[in-house]
Amino acid sequence: MDIASSGSGELVTRIRAKVPVVQPVVAVASFLRLVLPTSLARGLVQATVKKGKSEEGYRNAIEACWKLFSSPRLIKQALEMAMEEMDQIKHDRPLQDWFFNTFLKKCLIWGFFAATDHWVADSTRASILEYSQKNVRFQVETLPDISHSFCVDQSVEFAAVTLEAMATRGPSQAANAASATDKATLAFTEQHYFSSYDHFGIHEEMLKDTSRTLSYRSAMFKNRHLFKDKVVLDVGCGTGILSMFAAKAGAKHVYAVDMSNIIEKAREIVNLNGFEGQITLLQGKLEDIELPVDKVDIIVSEWMGYFLLYESMLDTVLYARDKYLVEGGLILPDKCSMYIAGIEDGQYKDEKIHFWEDVYGFDYSPFIEVAMAEPLVDTVDNKLLVTEPYKFFEFDINTVTKEGLSFQRQFELRAIDTDLCHAYIVWFDCDFPGDETVTLSTGPMSPYTHWKQTVMYMDQVLDVKKNDVIKGQIASRPNSKNPREVDIEIMWELRDQKGKYNYFMR
Ligand SMILES: C[S@@+](CC[C@H](N)C(=O)[O-])C[C@H]1O[C@@H](n2cnc3c(N)ncnc32)[C@H](O)[C@@H]1O
Repeated sequence: MDIASSGSGELVTRIRAKVPVVQPVVAVASFLRLVLPTSLARGLVQATVKKGKSEEGYRNAIEACWKLFSSPRLIKQALEMAMEEMDQIKHDRPLQDWFFNTFLKKCLIWGFFAATDHWVADSTRASILEYSQKNVRFQVETLPDISHSFCVDQSVEFAAVTLEAMATRGPSQAANAASATDKATLAFTEQHYFSSYDHFGIHEEMLKDTSRTLSYRSAMFKNRHLFKDKVVLDVGCGTGILSMFAAKAGAKHVYAVDMSNIIEKAREIVNLNGFEGQITLLQGKLEDIELPVDKVDIIVSEWMGYFLLYESMLDTVLYARDKYLVEGGLILPDKCSMYIAGIEDGQYKDEKIHFWEDVYGFDYSPFIEVAMAEPLVDTVDNKLLVTEPYKFFEFDINTVTKEGLSFQRQFELRAIDTDLCHAYIVWFDCDFPGDETVTLSTGPMSPYTHWKQTVMYMDQVLDVKKNDVIKGQIASRPNSKNPREVDIEIMWELRDQKGKYNYFMR
């Protein structure tokens, strides 16, 4: 059914062409809501809803209108979206609405019955949920919040269209109406990984990391000329912060992709801040999503993990680069360097490692090996450094390959004082491209970041004299069972002291 050509659709389109109706309608609705007794207001709503074929649909339509009528905010949102979309359909213009696009292009279900929809009655939603659970793999719970509804007075026919669609489409088409990826099909470790980003807490920590967040903002705002009218892809958009920076920096359009359910909140935030026309949010694994555009001019992504490479999210950015980035496009950030240094850390090593030698008089030493093997992520006071830092690995995201992220590198650490050396710390810097470059530094000399530093204890203590050089080698590769985890090996040599240890970032 072509809703734009239906009687009410035509009406909405004509109204849009002639008068800006949203504010007056909202004002009148607010006023009526205040002055009319509820029963009378409900009666008015009932009188305006046309009786359709089905009694249930009719009741639902009244409920839906009443819900709208009770909230001027919803009326405003619904009217604006209604007029916008009717107009677009009528004039055959491309829609920014992903669900709509998906429906038209691939005949997936038009995913409007989301968990928080506001234009069908709860009973209708309940019956759809029940229907979908029985008959199709339709992930209603993970559907993003409905951000619009252009069926203010169309609930009967609209509900019918959607129900009809659900009844006639097969399971395979219906499966990913909400997310391009069916989470249930992912390996457990992957489900776990994406679930860890569902909760707002992890995003709060990232947003509050001002070094991190402001580096991205500066890199975009200081290079507005590079963003002007460009199409941007935000790989792993989380709460949408980088997408909104890009939009504010002048991007023509931003495609924001995330697999985690946090994207539902991102959708609300993007709408609330007025970017719904400029940012399209797509849920699913980037690797499973078909962007509505063939190419993008810029990729932004905050993919960095502890020890830079933990999480292996950079693989996804490389995939996006190879598939979507135009020749000569920009990637933010685009250069990475990793550093190592030696530290004096006797007291903390006692607390973390030697602690297990005597726990309330018992020998707990079996824990020593696991405690040693697991690097600590902690803030290290730069006064603990006993050597100069050494840059042991760097790469350019424009050219690096996934394989190139496994490495084995030599290092030389010159002692800055005579001291004991208990551990190595590793950190990274990321550079952003542009005429004004920005560097995000996570070292012990830089302001705090949530990546802190990665500390790896040796199973011996090195006695270093000023200007001594610890020669060594560090290797890192993704774990073969779970590639998001990292296996690290460090070898070292100082005069007659030699050693080697294997660490696992889990
Ligand atoms: C470190 S967070 C960054 C969030 C946000 N960009 C920010 O700066 O606050 C990474 C995000 O990428 C998402 N992500 C990781 N791998 C992904 C993939 N392959 N496809 C889609 N999203 C992915 C995660 O769900 C998570 O929300």
